[in-house]
Amino acid sequence: MSIALVILAAGKGTRMNSDLPKVLHPIGQAPMLAHAMQSGAALEPARTVIVAGHGADAVARAVAEIDEDAQVVIQEEQLGTAHAVDQARAALAGFEGDVVVLYGDTPFVSPETLERMIEARKANDLVILGFHAADPARYGRLVMAGDRLERIVEFKEATDEERAISFCNSGLLACDAATLFDLIAAVGNDNAAGEYYLTDVVELAAARGLAVTAVACDESETLGVNSRADLAAAEAVFQAQARGELLEIGITLTAPETVFLAFDTVIGRDTVIEPNVVFGLGVTVESGATLRAFSHLEGCHVSRGAIVGPYARLRPGAELGEDSHVGNFVEIKNAYIGEGAKANHLTYIGDASVGAGTNIGAGTITCNYDGVMKHHTEIGRNAFIGSNTMLVAPVTIGDGALTASGSVITRDVEPGALALARAEQVNKPGRARKLFDMLKARKAKRDQETE
Ligand code: UD1
Ligand code: MG
Repeated sequence: MSIALVILAAGKGTRMNSDLPKVLHPIGQAPMLAHAMQSGAALEPARTVIVAGHGADAVARAVAEIDEDAQVVIQEEQLGTAHAVDQARAALAGFEGDVVVLYGDTPFVSPETLERMIEARKANDLVILGFHAADPARYGRLVMAGDRLERIVEFKEATDEERAISFCNSGLLACDAATLFDLIAAVGNDNAAGEYYLTDVVELAAARGLAVTAVACDESETLGVNSRADLAAAEAVFQAQARGELLEIGITLTAPETVFLAFDTVIGRDTVIEPNVVFGLGVTVESGATLRAFSHLEGCHVSRGAIVGPYARLRPGAELGEDSHVGNFVEIKNAYIGEGAKANHLTYIGDASVGAGTNIGAGTITCNYDGVMKHHTEIGRNAFIGSNTMLVAPVTIGDGALTASGSVITRDVEPGALALARAEQVNKPGRARKLFDMLKARKAKRDQETE
């Protein structure tokens, strides 16, 4: 059966106290909306409609980056959750299948839970996702009669007896599209909040003799983000889960609680990650690599057997070949480091390609930026770049070439050549001793004068 996701993301998120729309606040470095979209993607939806309102332009831009096929519709005024879903009506005109409603600020619903909702839909017309709340607080309460869900009562409307119910509404639901929009058309706003409550569709459906039920999920999946404190808690949940998954698939984390992962981090089996390694978006690490302590990786690829750090920084476009080494205080940006090549100390390699087996000496810098444009440095295979070489790009160093320490290389070096580009050394016999004697005499004189 075909599925359309409708993700509600129009709310202001007043308690975030932010210029950024709530659903764009990041968890694991990706907007929380991306998490909800990813959970929903497991249902292989034919359509995805995001209902945006506050900060709609920014939300639309973010959505386009996450899923270019997703549609954004605007809810000009936030008149309630039913009104929000209704904004997807036109976008889904002619769609035949189920609508699954998700919340953009509820990032952790699992694909398994969504699949259970779809499964329950086979025997029911409308399926609500509920959870047993440790503290039901202000959630809508699910009024059950056996397996049947009779109605959802919002906290504001609930009697004391109803408030005693701990089975709560997550807000998520699944229903045939035509039926859902039909029910929504009948929802009014005569209630304590003066809003069009999506929850009212339950009672309307039951009154029409439709089968309505609730599926329960773990409360942790319904964690909503309303404040910065919630955001920090959600980040902690995400990190704990992501670290747990890595351990599960055979990755060593010596101090898991100190490693910070991103939404899309991919790491292969038997990689070892030492303490305090931080991942930005877009990192893939193959099997058997070692990421040593205090390294920072973003938008890069690390091949099998490579060693990174301690204290290395891999920036977007860094591509490390098999068994290459990138050591302490080395920064790599938009550069390929060939198989077995080494840059072990205090180096910047940017906009470059380093051939297999090449050794980059300490203090080497690719001078890639002339203040206006960026330029490329090409280094061949098995070359030896002497310590403290400045490679002024654009420049090419041939296979097996050698640059002398301290050279400022401004012209190409042919394969196998030795490039010396530094002032020639001059030794002055006895001059050091004379210089020291002169300086000592000067100091003695000054000391005498100040006594
Ligand atoms: C809603 C449910 C409540 C449930 C709770 C779970 C209703 C009437 N109540 O209450 O039963 O226990 O969620 O968290 O549905 N939104 C829009 N446009 C609107 C209104 C809301 O896009 O006009 C979005 C919000 O941005 C948010 C979601 O819908 O992502 C839920 O809205 P919110 O106002 O938080 O509903 P609650 O009062 O929490
Ligand atoms: Mg809410």
